[in-house]
Amino acid sequence: MTDGLILVVGSLNADLVVQTARFPLPGETLTGEELRTIPGGKGANQAVAAGRLGGSVSMVGALGADSNGQMLRDSVEASGVDTSHVASLDGVATGTAVITVDGAGENTIIVSPGANGRLSVADLDAAAPLFDHAAILCLSLEVSLEVVLEAARRARTAGARVLLNLSPYGPVPDELLSLTNILLINEHEAADLLDLTAEQVLAEGGKYTRAALTERGIPRAVVTAGAAGSIVFDGATRDGADAVAVPSPKVTAVDTTGCGDAFMGSLALRLAAGDPLAVAAGYAATVGSFAATRAGAQASYPTPEELTAFMGSHA
Ligand code: RIB
Repeated sequence: MTDGLILVVGSLNADLVVQTARFPLPGETLTGEELRTIPGGKGANQAVAAGRLGGSVSMVGALGADSNGQMLRDSVEASGVDTSHVASLDGVATGTAVITVDGAGENTIIVSPGANGRLSVADLDAAAPLFDHAAILCLSLEVSLEVVLEAARRARTAGARVLLNLSPYGPVPDELLSLTNILLINEHEAADLLDLTAEQVLAEGGKYTRAALTERGIPRAVVTAGAAGSIVFDGATRDGADAVAVPSPKVTAVDTTGCGDAFMGSLALRLAAGDPLAVAAGYAATVGSFAATRAGAQASYPTPEELTAFMGSHA
């Protein structure tokens, strides 16, 4: 099978990152390490993760015509991603994310959308040929819901599979969920979406989550839980199981920023190559764990050679 085109419609952000030993309390001021301005954004991160590992990837997005925008374009292109449908817009800043990372590698993130908020359905019109060739469409929620929904409609009409990451979490129309072939959510997003407690999401091999997904009409989903691994819900596994636990390689986390995006991009890569969902999720879990061992989002993603070495030492 020829690996198909992975199309990412989504955000590109300059990540303004400060490392601190711990997060400040409300009203508290802390002194952190030196500020780093590095490439991020959920859409761009997904594209880079898939592209760096050898995927055929095109991105649709919007940047400001500024130095952060050039940094993002350079980073995405260096990973082999086609950016011919990433616009550089005058009069608006490239999206930014203000990120703190604590001593345990956990993060807090506040996003200012900037140019991401200008991405429009007209940009999808301009990228119409990409939809005709896409095997899989990656979506997340840092561009407008109107664009996300319309991209999903067009992908399904063209015969591509839709992979939706419900992050940053917010309510979405039922139509978007019904257009989604595979939903990628973490355990907190799953609890919110499915009206479960955090404990119920992973309990009893995903029994409650399976039932709630079925009730919402969502046949396939991957629920990630960081170091605890993930559960794959796939109505079509060969052995008849509809919930498969997928472990994550154990690592000492340096920075978990963008690990979910690394999971998403590499999941798309393997799905586009024809892997069954649970197999693709196993690969994605390894890429996500690798990303946690390095600082930054895109800066932390592996090349194929780095991933092979990591797999050898975490077998
Ligand atoms: O998922 C991590 C990403 O979220 C960061 O790169 C930041 O830009 C925000 O979009």
